[in-house]
Amino acid sequence: MPAPSPASVLDLAPVVPVVVLRDTADAVPLGRALVAGGLPAIEVTLRTPAALDVVRAIADGVPDAVVGAGTVIRPEQVTAAVDAGAGFLVSPGWTDVLLEAMRASGVPFLPGVSTTSEVVALLERGVREMKFFPAQAAGGTAYLKSLSGPLPQARFCPSGGIGPDTAPEYLALPNVGCVGGSWMVPADAVLARDWARIERLARAAAALSAGGTCR
Ligand code: 3PG
Repeated sequence: MPAPSPASVLDLAPVVPVVVLRDTADAVPLGRALVAGGLPAIEVTLRTPAALDVVRAIADGVPDAVVGAGTVIRPEQVTAAVDAGAGFLVSPGWTDVLLEAMRASGVPFLPGVSTTSEVVALLERGVREMKFFPAQAAGGTAYLKSLSGPLPQARFCPSGGIGPDTAPEYLALPNVGCVGGSWMVPADAVLARDWARIERLARAAAALSAGGTCR
């Protein structure tokens, strides 16, 4: 049975691995490695033909994981992802049509923003939690820090270009709930099915926020 849906994506775990998988057979061993390393919230991006089956496999086969779907950019993907067992939804951007589909899904969701006006537009629509993407390219921690003055009610999961060196700076910001990234799931490790390496990287990522200085 998949884990119940969380109330908020931002409070699930400080670091959310962003996963791109091509082979469904890798889903359960990868999910287990991430959970064993201390990263229970897993974003499976809908960027490969296998992605929905990967969501389903993790939801069914890794009970301690909370699996979500990322790169959700069309309303029909919302239903497909939730039917597959996604417990949360993440998008790199948003439109009103996509937002309504996500809202109707019944699971928590993070629409993506990269500008102040997009944040204001989401607040106007009653959405206070968002993905900040692509975080490093769109202004990084300096940008998010600047937003916390005029828009303290908005909370973010920055993602895109973040690594173990920069994640702690994001996690230290008052308007950041978690960070997303793919650094603990390197493509060569997945190809080699080196789940032990991924578990080690996950453990190091989980420890980034446990040092007391980050959150
Ligand atoms: C995402 O969809 O959040 C990003 O692709 C993850 O970004 P990264 O691969 O630069 O960590």
